[in-house]
Amino acid sequence: MNALSDTLWASLPVPAFLLDPGDLLAEVNPAAEQFLNASARSMRGAPVFDRLAIDAPLEEAFSRVRRDHAALFINNVDVGSGQRPPMQCNMQIAPMIGMPGFVLVIFEPRQIADRLGRAHSVKTSARSAIGMAEMLAHEIKNPLAGITGAAQLLSMGLSGQDLELTDLIVAESRRIVALLEQVEQFGNLRPPVRSAINVHDLLDRARRTAMVGFAGHMRIVEDYDPSLPPTHVDADQLLQVFLNLLRNATEAAGPAGGRITLRTFYDVALRLRRKDGATGALPLQVEIIDDGPGLPPDLVQDAFEPFVSGRENGTGLGLALVSKIISDHEGWIAVDSVPGRTVFRLSLPVAPKEETA
Ligand SMILES: Nc1ncnc2c1ncn2[C@@H]1O[C@H](COP(=O)(O)OP(=O)(O)OP(=O)(O)O)[C@@H](O)[C@H]1O
Ligand SMILES: [Mg+2]
Repeated sequence: MNALSDTLWASLPVPAFLLDPGDLLAEVNPAAEQFLNASARSMRGAPVFDRLAIDAPLEEAFSRVRRDHAALFINNVDVGSGQRPPMQCNMQIAPMIGMPGFVLVIFEPRQIADRLGRAHSVKTSARSAIGMAEMLAHEIKNPLAGITGAAQLLSMGLSGQDLELTDLIVAESRRIVALLEQVEQFGNLRPPVRSAINVHDLLDRARRTAMVGFAGHMRIVEDYDPSLPPTHVDADQLLQVFLNLLRNATEAAGPAGGRITLRTFYDVALRLRRKDGATGALPLQVEIIDDGPGLPPDLVQDAFEPFVSGRENGTGLGLALVSKIISDHEGWIAVDSVPGRTVFRLSLPVAPKEETA
C-alpha cells in the first residue's frame, strides 16, 4: 500500500477487515484492533470465522460479493469476538478493486444509528430538520477527532509529500469541525429573550468587537439617527446578527479593506403580518452598507438559505443564522447589492411603552 492508503486505513474510525480469497484475515485496521482487543499481528493469517462470531450467513454473503463484484449491506447483525459480548452492528462488504478475490468488511457499531433513530421519532413531535443536523454534527465530531489524532500521530514519522498529505487530513478535518460547530449553533438557538434595547449601543459593541478582531483593517463609519426609540430584541442574538453581517462585509472587501457604514433611521412604512395574524410595525431601520464587490448575482436569490456560499472556505451558514434570528423576532431583512454598494437592511420593532418606562 502507498502512504495515502496506509493513512486512510489507519484513520478509518470504524473497524475494517481485509480478507484474502480464502477468507483469511489479510489486514485489520487500528479501529478493528480496538474492536476485537487484539493486535493486527496476532490476527493476520487467521481464518476470519475463528476471530469473529457473526449471526449472519456470511459465507454466502462473501461469495456473492466476489461473484457480483458489488458491495453488500447487512443491517443489525450481532458481532462477537469470544473476548466480549456481541455488539449490534451494521455491516458492509465490498470487493477490493484490483485485488481479485479480496473483500473488505466494515462494521458500524449501532449506537450511532440508534441514537439517530430515536432522534427521528422525537422529531415528529417537536424537533426540526435542524435538530437532526445538530445531532449528526455532534456524532461526527467524535470520529473526526480520532481521524485528526491518527493523522497527527502518523505525521511524526513522515516528511515531504507524505507529510503534506497528513497535514491535509488534519486541516480538512478542522474545517469540517468548524462547519459542524456552526450547524450546532442552529440547534442551540433558543427563543429570543427580549428587552428594550438601544440599537446604537448594540451596534457600538459589534463595531468594537469587529475592530479588535476580524475587521481591524476596515473603516467603520456611523450614520445614526439619535432620536431612535429603543427596539425590542434579544441583545445577544442581535449582536450575533450584526457581527455576521460585519464579517461578511469584511470578507467581501478582501485584504485591502474597505468602508462599512452603519446607518439607522425611522421609517413607518413597513408593516409585517405576524404568525398570529396581527400586523406589527417595524419602523426601526438598521443598514449595514459596504463598498465591496457585491454579492455574486447568481447567489442573491438564495443568500439566506443554509449552505449557500460564494466563498471558497465559506460554510454558507452566516446569513441563514441571521435570517433565522430576525424571523424569530418577527423582523425583516433584505439585501440590495450592486458592485461597490451592498446594503443589508434590518427592520425591527419598537419596544412597547411599558418596557421602556
Ligand atoms: N457584504 C457582502 N458582500 C459580498 N458578498 C456577500 C456579502 N455578504 C454575503 N455575501 C455572499 O453571500 C454568501 C453567503 O454568506 P453567508 O454569511 O451565509 O456564508 P459565508 O460567509 O460564505 O460562510 P459563513 O458565514 O458560514 O462562514 C457569501 O459566501 C458571499 O458570497
Ligand atoms: Mg458569513
